[in-house]
Amino acid sequence: MEAALHARDKVGVQDFVLLEDFKSVTAFVENLKKRFQENLIYTYIGPVLISVNPYKSINIYNDSVIETYRNVNFYELPPHIYAVSDAAYRAMRREFHDQCVLISGESGSGKTEASKKILHYIATCNHQESNEIDRVKDRLLQSNPILEAFGNAKTNRNDNSSRFGKYMDVQFDFKGTPVGGVILNYLLEKSRVVKQATGERNFHIFYQLVEGASPEMRNALGISDDVTKYHYLNQGIQAADPSTINDKEDFATVCQALKTCDFSAEDQKDLFSVVAFVLLHGELTFNEDKENNATIALESLSAISNLVECEDSQLASALTNKSIMAEGVKVTSPLNLEQASYARDAFAKGVYERLFGWLVNKINRSLAKEKQQTKTRVLGLLDIYGFEIFDTNSFEQFCINYCNEKLQQLFITLTLKSEQDEYLNEGIEWEPVQYFNNKIICDLVDSKPTGIISILDEECLRPGATSDETFLEKLSSRLGGHPHFLSHASADVADRKNIKRHEFQLLHYAGEVTYSTEGFLDKNNDLLYRDLKELMLSTKNPITKQCFPDTELKNMKRPDTAGTQFKISLGQLMDILLSKQPSYIRCIKPNDNKQSNVFVNQIVRHQVKYLGLMENLRVRRAGFAYRRHYDNFLHRYKSLCPETWPFYKGPTKDGVSALCRHLQYTEEDYKMGRSKIFIRFPRVLFATEDALQLRKHDLATEIQAKFRGFFQQKAYQKMRSSVTRIAATWKMYCAKKIMCTRRDAARTIRRFINGFIQRKKPLCHENEMYVNHARYKFVLHLLDNLPNSVLDKSWPTCPDILQQASDDLRELNMRNIVRSYCIGLTTEKKTQLEQKVVAERLFKNKKSSYDQSIAVPFEDSRLSKKRITKTVKLTTEDILYSCMVTKYDRNGYRQRQRCLVITTESAYVLNEKNFKVKERISFNCLKGISTSALKDAVFILHVDSTQNNAKTKGDFVLSSDFLYEAIVKLVIAVQNDEILHIVSERCTHRMSSGKEGSVEFNTGAKSLVTRSKNKMLVVGIISC
Ligand SMILES: Nc1ncnc2c1ncn2[C@@H]1O[C@H](COP(=O)(O)OP(=O)(O)OP(=O)(O)O)[C@@H](O)[C@H]1O
Ligand SMILES: [Mg+2]
Repeated sequence: MEAALHARDKVGVQDFVLLEDFKSVTAFVENLKKRFQENLIYTYIGPVLISVNPYKSINIYNDSVIETYRNVNFYELPPHIYAVSDAAYRAMRREFHDQCVLISGESGSGKTEASKKILHYIATCNHQESNEIDRVKDRLLQSNPILEAFGNAKTNRNDNSSRFGKYMDVQFDFKGTPVGGVILNYLLEKSRVVKQATGERNFHIFYQLVEGASPEMRNALGISDDVTKYHYLNQGIQAADPSTINDKEDFATVCQALKTCDFSAEDQKDLFSVVAFVLLHGELTFNEDKENNATIALESLSAISNLVECEDSQLASALTNKSIMAEGVKVTSPLNLEQASYARDAFAKGVYERLFGWLVNKINRSLAKEKQQTKTRVLGLLDIYGFEIFDTNSFEQFCINYCNEKLQQLFITLTLKSEQDEYLNEGIEWEPVQYFNNKIICDLVDSKPTGIISILDEECLRPGATSDETFLEKLSSRLGGHPHFLSHASADVADRKNIKRHEFQLLHYAGEVTYSTEGFLDKNNDLLYRDLKELMLSTKNPITKQCFPDTELKNMKRPDTAGTQFKISLGQLMDILLSKQPSYIRCIKPNDNKQSNVFVNQIVRHQVKYLGLMENLRVRRAGFAYRRHYDNFLHRYKSLCPETWPFYKGPTKDGVSALCRHLQYTEEDYKMGRSKIFIRFPRVLFATEDALQLRKHDLATEIQAKFRGFFQQKAYQKMRSSVTRIAATWKMYCAKKIMCTRRDAARTIRRFINGFIQRKKPLCHENEMYVNHARYKFVLHLLDNLPNSVLDKSWPTCPDILQQASDDLRELNMRNIVRSYCIGLTTEKKTQLEQKVVAERLFKNKKSSYDQSIAVPFEDSRLSKKRITKTVKLTTEDILYSCMVTKYDRNGYRQRQRCLVITTESAYVLNEKNFKVKERISFNCLKGISTSALKDAVFILHVDSTQNNAKTKGDFVLSSDFLYEAIVKLVIAVQNDEILHIVSERCTHRMSSGKEGSVEFNTGAKSLVTRSKNKMLVVGIISC
């Protein structure tokens, strides 16, 4: 509606209810024309769609347009057949009510095209993807080319005119997915099989087969590729029509469609055999024998009989004879030429009609939904032959136009009724609109016993001489006064010129149609001779066999006439349609010449009138141009009133009232129904709509701002929640880490404590960790606390379990230190230490002061070698050592300071001042060296006076602070450890006089060396 309102000034109005001058047909047609010229072929009258045939392709039927219309409210987009389809489909789903779309209009107005568009639209309502659904969808769509090939033909009105009525139910499951379909067909115009008017063609399939079949197929069927050759094809046109129809391409399409609809190769072969069988009957000519009976040459039949696999002779006999059952006895009589030709044509028509029936059944089987138990809703599509007027109108046109009459009546009743009901239901007063009710015409045709069909039946069934003429006479006599009936007999002088003697005229809702009664009785009787039926029963072609069941032959009851059958089936169709919720599409033809861009006012005007569109509009506008449910109205316009914007809390009806008050609607402008508001004038609605458009700008700005705010807020919230989530995740991660660490720590501590408790046990799993740790710790501790000198005897304490390792390490370490120490020693130091070793060997645990002496390093020499060598003449000897000593005189033990020099061969005692040699003791003469075990520093050199060349002065009693050093050097020089004697208390020594002296060692309170009264040297040592 919105779009319609916007565009109203540009290309007319999209809904006629908005047309100001709604009572004017001219304004109506002008509006259609204005839109038609802009390729806007669709216009609404409320919910009814008016469609004007553009006779050219317009790009408004693609998938994107389908998507635009899907699930959008009917009035919200420009009028379109998809909007009607969508509304019907959605109503079916929403209200679970079966729907039907009634498409009406005269021949060539676009009904079939419209029905195809709807079918295409609903086939795309696919809510599930599955092979089965695709299969159903394909078959629904592909059933069209097949039925059009067999049921449509070129007429002077329409190149693809439907020559049968079609009602198709598309079945949907509860999800709204197409799951199957059923087609009902109505009265095929079979007379076309044998006869076509000038400019018209037979059914498409004949031309398609001749032009499109492969040479092999043609060969097999025994047909040529020249359509002009065939009597059944060349009566209306003399050549194939290349303008709008491409039979070759269409044949390929049909074959593909047959495949899709489950026709096997065998089925197709049988099917085309029957088509060829019908076609070739047109080529049969009869001869006359002497008795004026018709005969036929058997040779001409073999090609035909092969097609359905029957005996040539049987075929020949059936075509030239007529059998009837008289009181159970079959009586056969020959046919004359005329009768035989009639029988041949009747046979061809009958076979083709039954073939068409078989085809519809077969398609229905392929469309049948797989799961029968599923409850389905249906959407029906009625595409029936349109009202038509030809130069010569026969029984078929009579039926077709009667059918259109019935549909028109249905339309009138339903539209007026529903409109009226609405006002009634809503409690609105309305003025009844006068319209032409064509019930009178319907009654004229079908009422019993006075209707035309009844009279026709009567004439067909009546014994005695009956003919088309007697039928017309009866019509004239019975219906002569009827306002919608005219015959030559009943017409006045002026009208008689237009109605021939064998014609009658009906004033249909869509105009006057003159019908020729020629053939009415035959066509209504629709008889096929028994011989031909029996022949068909005996054929081996499965289709012909099925088309002519033997039950038909056994049934002796006369079947209903064609007219009555059609009337009955139409009645059933009306019941079907009435049981469904209808939608209407009214098709209009813009010109009679199938031309695009040509809009003939007069032609359109005529259709607008007879279709009752003006009445339809008037009813729709009876008082009110626009109505809407309160909900919808309030929803759309609530922004125009502060009281209702943004929400109205009370009942919607009150909200609408408030809105109307605010918009200053006058009392005349609108009425409040029970559930709808009715607006009388379009201008009121337009003003409201314009106000809404202005308001929309403000709202758009507001919405924009709100949206931006909302968008930013959303972005912010998203960011914030992301931050929170990241932080929470991070915290969780850290906490988990801490927890794991703590858990591991607790486990380790527990293990450690356990290990500590069991530390004394041999290494096992329980204490392994503790022990390893202890080891590690010990080794680390050891690293910092290793003794680093040979003399450092310290060593860290270790766990019990490591005692052995500790000891080993300690020894290793000591060895290492010693080794390093040794490597680092100088030669002098080494010599010194070797001397210390000798000292240890000599004195350790033998002399008390030894321990104190250890730390005092030995020197090479205590006195200057230079000075010594000046005074002591040494030739072969080297000085090894020298030091100061105290010499105790051998006479009275007086103390004298002397120097002791040790060489490689002897020891010298020198004067301490001038270093003059006082004594030389050759090592040969040195018998021993004595010292005490105490701490004193006295030592005695025992000399062998006999050996000593010097004057014998006795042994030397000496003392020195460097006792150990001197003795060690001396022992080393002598190279005899045994020379040293450690005495305990007393030591005797030899004096120069040969006497013996004695040195007594004792411990006491004082440390002194004195001469005792008994002339002994007493060496006293402080006890410690
Ligand atoms: N919407 C359309 N767009 C383009 N061309 C169309 C449209 N509708 C109809 N036509 C053209 O008009 C021709 C006749 O239309 P269609 O066969 O639908 O008429 P009909 O009402 O079914 O006639 P009949 O009653 O004879 O069957 C089509 O073959 C096509 O060329
Ligand atoms: Mg049609």
